[in-house]
Amino acid sequence: MFRPEKFVEEKIEELRAGIKGKAVIACSGGVDSTVAAVIVSKAIGDRLLVVYVNNGFMRKGEDEAVGKMLTELGVNFRLIDATDEFFAAMKGVSEPEMKRKIIGERFIRVFERAAKEYHAEYLVQGTIAPDWIESGDGVRDTIKSHHNVGGLPKDMNLKLVEPLRDLYKDEVRAVARYLDVKVAERQPFPGPALAIRVIGEATPASVEIVREACAIVEEEIEKAAAAGRMELPWQYFAVLLPCQSVGVQGDNRAYGKTIAVRAVQSIDGMSAAYSKIPHDVLEKISVRVTNEMKRDVNRVVYDITNKPPATVEWE
Ligand code: XMP
Repeated sequence: MFRPEKFVEEKIEELRAGIKGKAVIACSGGVDSTVAAVIVSKAIGDRLLVVYVNNGFMRKGEDEAVGKMLTELGVNFRLIDATDEFFAAMKGVSEPEMKRKIIGERFIRVFERAAKEYHAEYLVQGTIAPDWIESGDGVRDTIKSHHNVGGLPKDMNLKLVEPLRDLYKDEVRAVARYLDVKVAERQPFPGPALAIRVIGEATPASVEIVREACAIVEEEIEKAAAAGRMELPWQYFAVLLPCQSVGVQGDNRAYGKTIAVRAVQSIDGMSAAYSKIPHDVLEKISVRVTNEMKRDVNRVVYDITNKPPATVEWE
């Protein structure tokens, strides 16, 4: 049987003996990277820098929540607000693959800068067993030299540390409980974040609209599920569409934007069925979005497409 206290104790000893200099980890606020950060921090203290990058595309309240959690965990962390840098890089870009590429590259630049400034020699990652088993990598050392991890440039020359390499998700959760790491168990969220939930150019204004709409969708669906009105979908969010349509505002006809609500049931995201949400819950979402965001949005639609043929995200 897996014993988290034994795992933590042995891992701390191993890491303490193995890591001679400074280390960095990019923490997303998810359970894997947070648990990895806490274990390494217990082993080498402030020689570990935990970096959280706010790219401007995070969900409502997300950076405050992650910042608060890392503070409470007592790790040496740095919140880098790179919002302006990301939006500048995304200016005029509407093609989804290009948006993904720019966000990935920009993240590496920001993280690389932080690692260099800190004179880090080690890169800690929250890789768990399914990650490398799927990618066909059979090396099981916790500490090894790395060449190009997750697209990080070769010249960073950091040694890779993967303290959770041998663990499965339920074991990581057991370690999290043991270490008192309380990560919000939120629904899956794509790496490029809200940038791909704005169809077309992701500007500060358009991202703000979808952030607000996503928060309303989450709140109403979670409330209905908690009240036993419906099953909690696997994923549920809002998308801002690149079209305007006519509506009425006061006595006038006015053009407004459209929000699409997406909610699906799925096991692993490979295929998905749209969620059969009660109509009154959908209506509540629609009324709230068009009331609270009436300056921008005058229409809400519900996506009733399965995957395939659609995907979960609209992009
Ligand atoms: P699609 O849209 O391809 O999404 O049907 C399937 C699942 O994958 C999530 N997704 C991502 N997750 N990085 C991630 O970690 C990404 O770049 C990414 N793109 C999509 C999506 O939210 C859904 O859960």
